[in-house]
Amino acid sequence: MHSDSAVPGPRRGTELRQLGIIENAAVLCAGGKIISVGKTKDALRDPWLKKNYKKIMEIDCAGNVVLPGFVDSHTHPVFVGPRLVDFEKRIEGASYEEIAAAGGGIRSSLEAVRRSSKSALAAKVLAVFEAMAAHGSTTVEAKSGYGLTTDSELKSLEAIRNAASRWPGTVVPTLLGAHVVPAEFQGRSRKYVETVCKEMIPRTAKRKLAQFVDVFCDQGAFTPEESEQIFAAAKDNGLGVRAHMGQLSETLLTPFLGFNPASFDHMDRVNNSDIALLAQRDTVATLVPGANYFLGLKEYPNARRLIDAGVPVALATDYNPGTSPTISMPMAMSLACTHMKMSPAETIAAATVNGAWALRLAGRKGSVEPGKDADFAVFAVKDYREIPYWFGANHCAMTVLNGVATSRA
Ligand code: NIG
Ligand code: FE
Repeated sequence: MHSDSAVPGPRRGTELRQLGIIENAAVLCAGGKIISVGKTKDALRDPWLKKNYKKIMEIDCAGNVVLPGFVDSHTHPVFVGPRLVDFEKRIEGASYEEIAAAGGGIRSSLEAVRRSSKSALAAKVLAVFEAMAAHGSTTVEAKSGYGLTTDSELKSLEAIRNAASRWPGTVVPTLLGAHVVPAEFQGRSRKYVETVCKEMIPRTAKRKLAQFVDVFCDQGAFTPEESEQIFAAAKDNGLGVRAHMGQLSETLLTPFLGFNPASFDHMDRVNNSDIALLAQRDTVATLVPGANYFLGLKEYPNARRLIDAGVPVALATDYNPGTSPTISMPMAMSLACTHMKMSPAETIAAATVNGAWALRLAGRKGSVEPGKDADFAVFAVKDYREIPYWFGANHCAMTVLNGVATSRA
């Protein structure tokens, strides 16, 4: 897939289904960058290729589908263990909110992260990045958010940095100190927000440990006013912003738009006037259907309403122990097809180029174009529509991350 969009910016409306597929294609890469893209017969006549023929490594993808590597623009990989008790409680009928109010949910993951060593966390995160790459992801946004003390949030971001340094893909770290108010601050959320704004954000920025600050703006987490304070602190410290919005309840988006957020994520609940505003902007609506699936919800975000109104939509896994323990972008794409009525083509653009926009990386990531990074996912299928079709199976045969090829055994 290459970029066909006339207007630079995230894909909207019908642009989301224009994949620009080239049959019998070849991509020339050098130094981790794409040099040219086109028909194989044209590539073979390329003067650069002719001159360097002996030096090149050829990867034969005949009969396969080659895509830009997926950009998983929303993940929470820094936690220690699964939340199996919550899983069973939900099967018995408890809701996500009820479990959280009874001491389960996010708060029940904090202790283990606080106790864990940085190297143990880094090993977990690296294993997650590797599993994601095995399913076609080459760029991953990774949030902290299960420590919720200044030290354990910084430790989580350091673990992400350490894992990223040992993985050939690209990682975008995000501080999610405002995930929930931890128990020791119960009833004193104002004090906790102060800690986030005056300690966590400045120390993260000073040590360049994150590019973005995220906030879970919802009932049971942070209010719109608190979220605005957090956005303001991020901006003062030179960090970008993104937010979990509209997962459990609707929040008016207007007060946040002045901060130019890179994305609003979840977006299960959003009103029509906010949709009209988002259609005019580059803030991406990142939909994470894995969370709806895993929580057993009947409702999914209304992707059609967003796409048809011109809002740029991305898809991500939301990998986390509470609501979406999946590392698979193809699974998220399959759910988007079956439960959100997105076409297979739309899911591919939402999982690649619009994910790159959601991370402000579209100049380097998300499409196969000369000058961009050599990030590819090779699928052992004949037709791209098979990627969301064969749900639950992994047909990714190889991933190329910044020019480094890793095939599945
Ligand atoms: O994106 N909504 C907030 N954060 C996560 C869930 C985190 C958890 O339950 O551990 C989400 O769904
Ligand atoms: Fe999330």
